[in-house]
Amino acid sequence: MTLIFAHRGSAGTHPENTMEAFYEAERVKADGIELDVQLTKDGEIVVIHDETVNRTTNGKGFVKDYSLKEIQKLQANYKFKNKLFKKNRVPSLREVFLWLKGNNIICNIELKNSIMDYQGLEEKVIGLIREFGFEDRIIISSFNHYSIVACYRLEPAVEIAPLYSSGLFMPWIYAQSLRAKAIHPNLKAVKDEIIIESMNNGICVRPYTVNKVEQMERLLNLGCTAIVTDYPEKAWKLRESKKG
Ligand code: G3P
Ligand code: CA
Repeated sequence: MTLIFAHRGSAGTHPENTMEAFYEAERVKADGIELDVQLTKDGEIVVIHDETVNRTTNGKGFVKDYSLKEIQKLQANYKFKNKLFKKNRVPSLREVFLWLKGNNIICNIELKNSIMDYQGLEEKVIGLIREFGFEDRIIISSFNHYSIVACYRLEPAVEIAPLYSSGLFMPWIYAQSLRAKAIHPNLKAVKDEIIIESMNNGICVRPYTVNKVEQMERLLNLGCTAIVTDYPEKAWKLRESKKG
């Protein structure tokens, strides 16, 4: 069965990368969530997509220049500035993990360290995973493939997956060379044959970001490992409708 991962929570319906978005993913029965992490100036792992707070909050500046306490004073309700989402703030990864303790949702952590070289990010993320005993339900992905290999070396029990956005040649071979059990390609970068061949070679495929019904149909029909979508409820209903 194709799993459904809620991208940045349920980013199509709720403020991205906030607890509200993750609660929504649980409510609509997503199998997993995807989230992005950066480091604050006091070395805390926070869940936010961009290197700055400008787009998603009412603040300005780089995440690396805020302490956890400071960043959590901001409202992370970009795009959804109604009363319902007013209290949204930037969560720490620890807060997300505390919530994950109460369910069985898979968590895909994307390390956002392609632009910023966050020293110690890999060690901190792996340390938190170990503290919570989540080695078997976390997938670490990144566009920075050196970083996911570093994670694998620190803790081989945690699955890693390279993100990529253009035509990688025989990506299953590349994944195997990294010791990755999956690839996370941009939807535009994977043809059906690549999905099938990767899966036949034991490599899971979780394309992003799959928001249109016809795109979801295509991947569900192929039996693709998972889809990463801003609209997990829509994907769940479609998957249900196909069960017959
Ligand atoms: O995990 C896939 C996807 O999240 C990567 O792109 O920019 O949405 O983080 P982006
Ligand atoms: Ca992401």
